[in-house]
Amino acid sequence: PRAALIDALGRRISYLRISVTDRCDLRCRYCMAERMTFLPRDQLLTLEEIALLADLFIARGVRKIRLTGGEPLVRRDIIDLVRRIGRHVGEGLDELTLTTNGTRLADHADALFDAGVRRINVSLDSLNPDRFAHITRRGNIQPVMDGLAAARAAGLAVKINMVALKGVNEDEILPMLRWCGDQGFDLTLIETMPLGETGEDRTDHYLPLTEVAKQLRKHVELTPIAHRTGGPSRYHAVEGMAARLGLITPLSNNFCADCNRMRMTCEGKIFMCLGHDDHVDLKSAFRTGGVAAVEPLIDRALRLKPARHDFRIGAGAPPAAVQRHMSVTGG
Ligand code: GTP
Ligand code: 5AD
Ligand code: SF4
Repeated sequence: PRAALIDALGRRISYLRISVTDRCDLRCRYCMAERMTFLPRDQLLTLEEIALLADLFIARGVRKIRLTGGEPLVRRDIIDLVRRIGRHVGEGLDELTLTTNGTRLADHADALFDAGVRRINVSLDSLNPDRFAHITRRGNIQPVMDGLAAARAAGLAVKINMVALKGVNEDEILPMLRWCGDQGFDLTLIETMPLGETGEDRTDHYLPLTEVAKQLRKHVELTPIAHRTGGPSRYHAVEGMAARLGLITPLSNNFCADCNRMRMTCEGKIFMCLGHDDHVDLKSAFRTGGVAAVEPLIDRALRLKPARHDFRIGAGAPPAAVQRHMSVTGG
């Protein structure tokens, strides 16, 4: 077997997030600017190249792959890639999954299940159509609702991702939790992270989840549980509800010490942390020298993994820790 992916701090990388496109059909205010310049399509890895690189990472011990973006389902023929990587599920891979905004989920839910996907994360920051349109700057919530129904009908477990935004959707957190409970979905709340300029001040909307949990406890009993999904979310059982509540707290409660993740962008760059610029570029090496040329670059990337991000929000902090938007690095 090939050498496992272990960084200088002894952290074992078993989770690869692949951003398959930096494009998206929405423009969530905390994620993107109103006008985004996207990468020219001829700079992207082909789906075949992504699949071959995924094979290599699996050979080196990756057990979980998540396709992200941008919005992964806007990439043409994406299901071909899901099928291709899905062949590893149950052997090399424990899980193949994706994070989607749900707008095109209705068209793809059955195909995802058939390809071996069993669980997906769907971003949904509001249940109110007007507010959804406001947050996403252009979205229509109905296709997302249809997508969620299709996912359930297809047998996919769903986790809703909600970025908690002060003064924007904070009043919807409890209703969202109850709604998720009714739907049989888990809910994960996320703190807004300073990635890329969005034209808005993230300080205005930052809501520490430590505070949110305190407020929620006035209404529902939350009990920390050991359940883990391989990502940074820490879960709570919610009294009287089937849904679990996850909290992702990059700012209020750092989780980098047991990070198991690396990221590959749609151009074939490997980032070892969301919050740092260090990376290696696999694309040209792979095109000229194949897997053999890429392996030393992966080992170099491992040595680049920082101990932690240093995201800061608030007085004196820069508007963005890195210029890359989440959609480039893949969340
Ligand atoms: P599960 O497999 O369900 O645990 O999903 P996940 O949390 O790994 O993935 P998802 O795409 O749903 O990500 C939810 C949020 O967590 C996104 O905002 C990610 O950017 C964030 N996230 C995931 N990994 C990290 C990380 O290593 N560092 C930071 N700061 N945020 C992360
Ligand atoms: N901070 C926190 N979460 C973000 N997401 C996108 N941009 C940001 C940001 N700046 C979320 C999306 C999606 C997940 C992959 O990342 O809502 O659920
Ligand atoms: Fe698109 Fe997701 Fe970013 Fe919203 S958060 S603009 S849905 S990539």
